[in-house]
Amino acid sequence: MNQLAPPACQPQATKQVIQNLSKPAPPCTLVIFGGAGDLTKRLLIPSIYNLAAAGLLPENFAIIGVARADKNDESFRADLTEEIKSFATAKVDDDIWQNLVSRIYYLRGNFDERPTFDALKLRLDEVEQKHNTGKSRLYYFATGAEYFPKIADLLGKADMVKQEQDVWRRVIVEKPFGTDLESAESLNRALLAVLEENQIYRIDHYLGKETVQNILVFRFANGLFEPLWNNKYVDHVQITVAESVGVENRGNYYDKSGALRDMVPNHLFQLLTMTAMEPPSSFQADAVRGEKAKVLEAIHPLTDDEVRMQAVRGQYDKGAIKGKEIPEYRNSPKVNPESNTETYMAMKLMVDNWRWAGVPFYLRTGKCLPKKRSEIVIQFKKAPFSLFRGEDVGALESNKLVLHIQPEEGIALEFGAKIPGPKVMLSGVQMLFNYHDYFGQSSSTGYETLIYDCMIGDATLFQRADNSELGWKVVDPILKLWQREKPNFPNYTAGSNGPAAADELLARDGRAWRAID
Ligand code: BG6
Repeated sequence: MNQLAPPACQPQATKQVIQNLSKPAPPCTLVIFGGAGDLTKRLLIPSIYNLAAAGLLPENFAIIGVARADKNDESFRADLTEEIKSFATAKVDDDIWQNLVSRIYYLRGNFDERPTFDALKLRLDEVEQKHNTGKSRLYYFATGAEYFPKIADLLGKADMVKQEQDVWRRVIVEKPFGTDLESAESLNRALLAVLEENQIYRIDHYLGKETVQNILVFRFANGLFEPLWNNKYVDHVQITVAESVGVENRGNYYDKSGALRDMVPNHLFQLLTMTAMEPPSSFQADAVRGEKAKVLEAIHPLTDDEVRMQAVRGQYDKGAIKGKEIPEYRNSPKVNPESNTETYMAMKLMVDNWRWAGVPFYLRTGKCLPKKRSEIVIQFKKAPFSLFRGEDVGALESNKLVLHIQPEEGIALEFGAKIPGPKVMLSGVQMLFNYHDYFGQSSSTGYETLIYDCMIGDATLFQRADNSELGWKVVDPILKLWQREKPNFPNYTAGSNGPAAADELLARDGRAWRAID
């Protein structure tokens, strides 16, 4: 495919300017349950450092990490100081880091025991006074999901979630929000027994990605594309989240979860709802989340036969990616050697509403595919009639709008153009907007916006209880049928585009996936 060169002169500084327009968050203390864990060192602390470096943290701010590991303030700070060297996304400025790390504290304790919370209360009083942070708190649940209900319950029992005038208490909950509809409802019941919905921030790190946030800006801040964004002009939509990594060292979690639970009701449905939703009346959290909920409600519920026809699962066999040999999934650490867990899934969903009736949404995600690539393809209907009848001009392709989410970040419009020369011959070409060309390299982890938004009380980029439950409701029939019917695994080679059945799913409709490699 030919490609137009990106424009040479671009406003590199725009992003910086926008960031600088934001004010620092209000004074508060961040309590991280799971403070000694992977998420904290890899993403949370580097993001908080980035917020500090961008001047978006309040001066009156402190962090308390709570975990079982045997650490104290000094050793916790020393460990984080080592770890930030590996996980920071930009060069670490020593003054900024020292200022931040001196406000970080550690409390050793079990998340499911009341004494931990009594001790935390005392520690918070001390730290809040020392750093003059006021009484507002953000509790980050960065633990295994099994602890979420207990932590919420104990925070409630210790009287630590009550809000007052100018004192907020918010909770960030990491996925998974349940493992099926029933457990998602039960988790929501447990959280809502203690907290108000507006105190709960269910995080989906896909919503921290600039390119994902840009879907709404692209659709609703431009007049050009929205008139075409419907079943009159769109043939179908493809949403792909392909990963080249395998299960790595997460076998314990992943083998119980699988690709469907791990990726679909959360990340893929975020991409789907942002692509399919109606314009909200404002960008207020509930207006946006309400429109997303309507899309999930409109998804045609699948019967067992429809699941058999419209959902495909796969598990990778040994293979090679970029010359590196990959062992089969069943041979991965902490994975059952006879596992029937899917590492790939594809499905066709219909959104039964006025805008999308008759337009299939094809979704796929998997591990050990040839490349990491997340994208949304809006494939338009072909021109109604070919003027080139009888002439050998080459195939007329459909126009495609490709929203590149990662690792390429940008938007491409694909259309046909005449190849220069005396004879009329067509070729596919591409108009490309590339984020980096315009805004420079972003050094964010993706968590900065989400943490900052929680501190300022903006829940737009977080899932509401109903969004999470509606997502599970869509996938529940698939989960149930897949539990009852045994798959024939492994059925795709690591490094290939996925199982043959996924290609057949589209071929039956006269369509084909965009190649991943
Ligand atoms: C996580 C999943 O939520 O998202 C992982 O648990 C997956 O299995 C990851 O690898 C993908 O995130 P990203 O940002 O790399 O696309």
